[in-house]
Amino acid sequence: MTTVISVTNQKGGVGKTTTAVNVAYYLAKAGKKVLLIDFDPQGNATSGLGVDKQELQSTMTEVLMGSTTLSEIILPTEHKNLFLAPTTPHLANTEVELAGAQHKFTRLKQAIETVPDYDVVIIDSPPSLSLLTVNGLIAAKYVLLPVQAEFYALEGLGQLLETMKLVRKSMNPTLDLLGVLPTMMDSRTTLSGQVFEEIKKHFPGKVFEHTIPRNIRLAEAPSHGLPVGAYDRWSKGARAYKAVTKEIIDRIG
Ligand SMILES: Nc1ncnc2c1ncn2[C@@H]1O[C@H](COP(=O)(O)OP(=O)(O)OP(=O)(O)O)[C@@H](O)[C@H]1O
Ligand SMILES: [Mg+2]
Repeated sequence: MTTVISVTNQKGGVGKTTTAVNVAYYLAKAGKKVLLIDFDPQGNATSGLGVDKQELQSTMTEVLMGSTTLSEIILPTEHKNLFLAPTTPHLANTEVELAGAQHKFTRLKQAIETVPDYDVVIIDSPPSLSLLTVNGLIAAKYVLLPVQAEFYALEGLGQLLETMKLVRKSMNPTLDLLGVLPTMMDSRTTLSGQVFEEIKKHFPGKVFEHTIPRNIRLAEAPSHGLPVGAYDRWSKGARAYKAVTKEIIDRIG
């Protein structure tokens, strides 16, 4: 059975794409067959894996519009077991076009059901609570929630939890919070520590034991088109994502 995980937080720049790419990489390294779906019109996961968006013929846009199938657009990567469903900025227009369409909330779910041979599907969501994000929440078994360790970290999360509740009530009763992942932790500041405690209070039992430090290698790796584990596997960032991925494997069983 395929486990679908949506990496979601409607706040921008909190580490969703970095988490999606690197967790996908380490799950693949652990022997799982992994599909990373770039579901953000920014296409950061696509370029972060070294794919040139100019060269793409068909992407998630065409899949959502029903003019091609998911398996048609999936690209292998240079990393064993890791596959990518790429996207381009056109996906933003698709969202508008879909607004009045039938089954607009379940298009991603239906697409994923056509590729049952993956062990794990990771969805990289856009920074909004949009139709795309809701498609992700309806398709997923789990939400992986990266939270940036900064003063406003928890602001806005109530709205996401509310949306998850609505999705559970309506179309996806088994949607579950896989875990909350504090990102860009700065061990030199007490603020990070305080925010971490605050996050733990807010999400008892849900915060991962390992957190993601602020680490320049994590920011550099996408410009080389690589997950950090392939760029600098001994960096703090790489080791942190590897450790978190172990926890994820324990949680998803
Ligand atoms: N732990 C980290 N240490 C240092 N830089 C990081 C870390 N995590 C992410 N970054 C950098 O911070 C920026 C935002 O990260 P990322 O793109 O993963 O966030 P996002 O939530 O996907 O953003 P968006 O909401 O725009 O999709 C990127 O430039 C990324 O390289
Ligand atoms: Mg992103």
